[in-house]
Amino acid sequence: MPATAAPDALVYDPADPAVMANPYPVLARLRENDPVHWAPALKSWIVTRHADVRDLLLGDSLSVNRLMGFYRSLPPREADLLRDIIRYLNLWIAFRDPPDHTRLRRIMRHAFTPVAVDALRPGIEGIVAGLLDRLAGRRGTVDLVRDFALLVPAFVIMDMLGIPRDRVDEVKTWSDDLATFIGGARNAADKYERAARGCREMAGFFKGMIAERRANPRPGFLMDLINARDEGDQLSDDELVATCILVLFAGHETTTNLIANAVLTLLRHPDELARLRADPGLTDGMIEEVLRYDGPTNALVRVVAKDHDLHGRQLREGDRVFVMVTAANRDPRAFDDPDRFDIGRNPNRHLTFGQGIHICLGARLAREEGRIAVPALLHRFPRLALAGEPVWLDAMVPRGLVRLPVTLGEE
Ligand code: HEM
Repeated sequence: MPATAAPDALVYDPADPAVMANPYPVLARLRENDPVHWAPALKSWIVTRHADVRDLLLGDSLSVNRLMGFYRSLPPREADLLRDIIRYLNLWIAFRDPPDHTRLRRIMRHAFTPVAVDALRPGIEGIVAGLLDRLAGRRGTVDLVRDFALLVPAFVIMDMLGIPRDRVDEVKTWSDDLATFIGGARNAADKYERAARGCREMAGFFKGMIAERRANPRPGFLMDLINARDEGDQLSDDELVATCILVLFAGHETTTNLIANAVLTLLRHPDELARLRADPGLTDGMIEEVLRYDGPTNALVRVVAKDHDLHGRQLREGDRVFVMVTAANRDPRAFDDPDRFDIGRNPNRHLTFGQGIHICLGARLAREEGRIAVPALLHRFPRLALAGEPVWLDAMVPRGLVRLPVTLGEE
């Protein structure tokens, strides 16, 4: 608890539907008036300026290892329920500080090389083309999240991990169950039960997959992960299972949100959409600008590792901190005219893939999926249009849509 928290009239309530739909006005007020804000309802610090977010992610005053503190604070019934999930999550690179993080990252980078990602390109193109074929001819309103944005990264990651495509509904359920827990949904009552079930099912599945792949080696990401070595060191069996769960999870919802947020933002900015259609060379800039303007990362979560002051506020060891990427990405100190969506923006130093030692390992893949999927959709359906209000995800960490109603314009 902060000793110096000022009584603030400012209230940041991420579960308020108006804030979910448009968090930027309240985040702008925080950024200007109280850049290190104590949110009593969240029992957390909310950091909103670009330089602070960047410096905190680059420095070592915050830790990602927030699981054990949380676990120890649980009542026995919940602790029992979450024992398995905590065991695996605790092995996630995303929740480890150095030196464990350094070791895991050194091993894992061997499976995330540019060559490995580039090899996935034809597969991504095939997945996108197949999904667009399935959409073609659909009349009336289509939910672009369910029928497109969700399936592109799901199939890509399932191909990478060797999961048969007909299991996509299971994968989605596992992933949603885990996301409800990790993403910090505030309105979900049964989130612990669901997370525990999702984790148990995924762990069982991946144990089987890894054993099968070892017995019948085949080139690809899963084999690369099994074989990844750094100076003779490799992932243990539990670490392999944990990493498969992480990759399935990390590479899936985030990229869905990139694709859906991109389509929504472009449809709401017809001039920029026309600019993109006229000059496909702007595709890379468009993806970067979507990542900045309304990207898939709302916040990153940390705990204070050592006491320190920031803008006169005293952050104490163990305090929780939400590092607000959405707010940093609209900071006028870092971007000209930050509330303008400009697909030609350059430079564009958004923080959507994080910063520092935990910077996203899958950024190259995510960008590639966005670059292929969004233009292909726009090209196939030149009269694509919004068909109602989108529904936003109730979550603190990711930022994305659960529903994006559109018409394809084919009738
Ligand atoms: C647009 C899509 C994506 C976004 C916005 C995104 C964002 C992020 C962010 C912000 C982090 C840092 C988290 C932190 O510092 O706490 C991260 C880490 C990570 N991401 Fe992504 N990600 C995306 C796609 C992917 C994909 C496709 C994969 C894998 C196939 C992936 C794998 C990872 C992994 C393994 C880490 C942990 C790295 C570490 O802790 O050292 N991500 N991602």
